[in-house]
Amino acid sequence: MAFRLSPHPMGVTELKTGRCLDINDACLEMFGFRRDDVIGQPTLLLDIWPDPQDRARLIERLTSELSVRNLDVPLRMKHGGLRHFLISADVVMLGKTRCLLIIGNDITEHKRAEEALRDVREELENRVRERTGELERTNAALIESEERFRTFLDHAANLAFIKTTDGRYLYVNRRFEQAFCLDHKSIVGKTDEELFSREQADQFRADDRTALEAGTAMEFEETPCYADGLHTTIALKFPMRDKSGHIYAIGGIVTDINERKRTEETLQLQQKQLHDLTAKLIKAQEDERQRIARELHDDVSQRLAALVLDVASLERQPPLLPELIGKSLEPVREQLEQLSDDLHNLAYKLHPSLLQHAGLQPAVEDHIREVTKRTGLSVSLKVHRMSGSLSLDHSTCLFRVLQESLQNVAKHACATEATVKLSGSSKGVGLSVTDNGKGFDASDKSAHHKGLGLTSMQQRLRLLNGFLRVHSRPTEGTKICAWVPVKKEEA
Ligand SMILES: Nc1ncnc2c1ncn2[C@@H]1O[C@H](COP(=O)(O)OP(=O)(O)O)[C@@H](O)[C@H]1O
Ligand SMILES: [Mg+2]
Repeated sequence: MAFRLSPHPMGVTELKTGRCLDINDACLEMFGFRRDDVIGQPTLLLDIWPDPQDRARLIERLTSELSVRNLDVPLRMKHGGLRHFLISADVVMLGKTRCLLIIGNDITEHKRAEEALRDVREELENRVRERTGELERTNAALIESEERFRTFLDHAANLAFIKTTDGRYLYVNRRFEQAFCLDHKSIVGKTDEELFSREQADQFRADDRTALEAGTAMEFEETPCYADGLHTTIALKFPMRDKSGHIYAIGGIVTDINERKRTEETLQLQQKQLHDLTAKLIKAQEDERQRIARELHDDVSQRLAALVLDVASLERQPPLLPELIGKSLEPVREQLEQLSDDLHNLAYKLHPSLLQHAGLQPAVEDHIREVTKRTGLSVSLKVHRMSGSLSLDHSTCLFRVLQESLQNVAKHACATEATVKLSGSSKGVGLSVTDNGKGFDASDKSAHHKGLGLTSMQQRLRLLNGFLRVHSRPTEGTKICAWVPVKKEEA
């Protein structure tokens, strides 16, 4: 009864022949057979085993184990389709015949569902793999492109930044970090108000807004305060748009024009100095000519005229006694000697002949003697490794520095002592004049422009690729250092 009514397909076959002895309705219905087709037929002839080896294996196991549970096999229906079963079978005795009681559990739908699920899972896994690959490639390309962008901008001489439209920094390049002495991490995400002074932030933001409102790139002159002080810059600011044209950020490229401004200013200053100097030089030359003319006219020619008169009167009334001749000629000789000395001094001031004939060191020694005699100032000289192979141009230049410096000591310093040092090397010759006088503020450039001395020393040295340094502070004395290079062929 249970056999007939069971919803699972069941059947009984003769073990030896495989003939079907009985079969339940569920089984007939499932396989699509009529009872008459089946009863008495060997199941092999019914062609329900797509692989006859499956049946042979079942029989083999039953012979040794007498019972088989849940063997997974496919079976063919009458109309040809395959269905999957878990087959359980027992060997039973019907009378004297060894029979098989077989019960099948149809798992076709379950299998199909499982397969469909596996397919879906595989498909899904494939898609995930593909998308992951794509993402990895996009990511790598993005990293490379970002890396390229960073490297490029980190080597630019300009400052560069990107800010959100409401003013938060998204990106800054290395020059930006260096200029403000801040690192990337402490800038990104912050606003100008959070990073800089109120005034500074206001200027930056006002210009940002102007460019954003205009919707186009614009240039602004800004004066940011970098870590090393105020700079003048030209900031190019431009809105950045996404694909749909919506502005999402503002970019900036900032060019420092401080250096350019400073160079322009220095150039202007130097031009003015040159102009002033030329005017002063022309005047000095005129003054000097007047002085020489005056000296020659008022002094030398007066004294010569007086001598002419003396000689003329001697001519008219020569002394009668020979021993008186010497006496009356004596004042004439003395005056002539004095005149000769004075003319020598005058010529010497114009150009010391010693410099030309004996070189710098003897001319310096001679000049120091003359200054000491004339002013009473105590001047000492220290000489170190002077080779004496300096060109006349170079030694004249250093000699003029010495003359002017000692004259300044005498004129301005109220000093009791001065030291002159001369030292040579394979590269050049240096001269310094140090005094223990009242000093002055050497950093105050206007002092240099008062007279002609310091400026003309500077200009002379510059012409020979040398330099002049003035070290002086009120009450601390003054040190003037000059240096000229030795020309290659003289070295
Ligand atoms: N050795 C010094 N001691 C004190 N003040 C000096 C000395 N040398 C120069 N000065 C100052 O620098 C100024 C400029 O000097 P200079 O250019 O030679 O012009 P000048 O001698 O015609 O005044 C001087 O007027 C003086 O104030
Ligand atoms: Mg002077």
